[in-house]
Amino acid sequence: MKEEFKLVQYDRRNRQKGDLSRFSLENARRVQTFHSSFPIYSKTPFVTLSNTAKELGLGNVYIKDESFRFGLNAFKVLGGSFAIGNVIAQKMGKSIENFTYRDLISEETRRNAGEITFVTATDGNHGRGVAWTASALKHKAVVYMPKGSAKERLENILGEGAEASITELNYDDAVRFAHKQAEENGWIMVQDTAWEGYEDIPLWIMQGYATMAYEAYTQLAERPTHIFLQAGVASMAGAVTAFFASLYKEECPIITIVEPNKADCIFRTAEAMDGKLHYVTGEMDTIMAGLACGEPCSIGWDILKEYGDNFISCPDYAAAQGMRILGNPAKGDERIISGESGAAAFGCLTEIMRNPSLREWKEKLMLDENARVLCFSTEGDTDQSGYQSIVWDGAFPEK
Ligand SMILES: Cc1ncc(COP(=O)(O)O)c(C=O)c1O
Repeated sequence: MKEEFKLVQYDRRNRQKGDLSRFSLENARRVQTFHSSFPIYSKTPFVTLSNTAKELGLGNVYIKDESFRFGLNAFKVLGGSFAIGNVIAQKMGKSIENFTYRDLISEETRRNAGEITFVTATDGNHGRGVAWTASALKHKAVVYMPKGSAKERLENILGEGAEASITELNYDDAVRFAHKQAEENGWIMVQDTAWEGYEDIPLWIMQGYATMAYEAYTQLAERPTHIFLQAGVASMAGAVTAFFASLYKEECPIITIVEPNKADCIFRTAEAMDGKLHYVTGEMDTIMAGLACGEPCSIGWDILKEYGDNFISCPDYAAAQGMRILGNPAKGDERIISGESGAAAFGCLTEIMRNPSLREWKEKLMLDENARVLCFSTEGDTDQSGYQSIVWDGAFPEK
């Protein structure tokens, strides 16, 4: 299949708007307070690429660099840790609001909650976050990875003390397998996607991501006009969109969701617009491993269908270009090490601005010298050999 750029636009004026209170500023502040109780917590950097923006024909570009999150090279631990915190607080009959890292590791909690096994299916980043949290809180984690997952990512998860393996299943089948294991063994599944009947934990995971959006809000000097977000199942994109839509209301920046061609379940769902979720099946062999998910998160989609403006499906080379430009920005700008999934939305933005065949899209998306675009580099070089082959050797060149 030839890779291509595809766009679906929604008109925000004609849509019903749902309740965003779960992602309000107040709630996000509470989530950030929970995360800041972990000794390793610090705000991740917020980088302004003014010179690069000028070269691209934009007013400004801001990048939140999540490669510094908890020393884990990706944002995902925010979700897993908040969900696990909630599970344990609930077992203790406490509210998460007053439950901190110290409470989580206390003798009393250990006595009453016992040792818990958390299980998940993941391409790497989420599993590492769950494994890290379980180990930090002296519980257990079991992680199943989809076929083709990078060995380095497996080793990182094993390094956090989890039991982990690469299966022969694609991501969505690995999720079903993990669910079955949880039911049979009495483990708690901490999955970063929701489906009917499994919503509490995914919602906590999404609320956990609000810390990233909240920090960005505190670091922004002015309101962005655009936000570009990459999506796998769209838990992250849904959470960040909900936070900013709740914050800025009618002045909400234009929200653009970016996915790889080979795993564009949100794009397909947006395109069909028939009230159903649309899936991608089979092997999703995109370089954007974190985005190789074929089944949308129901909570994420419910937010995006009301607040998302543009849905884009894009080729792998867009992400590769994003990695190269972030690693080598215009003179005077700070470099960012960003992995395939981390650079996806920014890479798509650079293609729209630089590729003559996408000229019309600039107007459609209102991307010009007045645009101030916020992106989230959600991971660093989580697969170092992949990073080198793209950034050093020029793999996946622009077509
Ligand atoms: C680095 C990175 N960015 C973005 C995402 C997308 O998150 P979601 O699956 O919630 O859309 C993932 C998911 O694993 C990821 O690992």
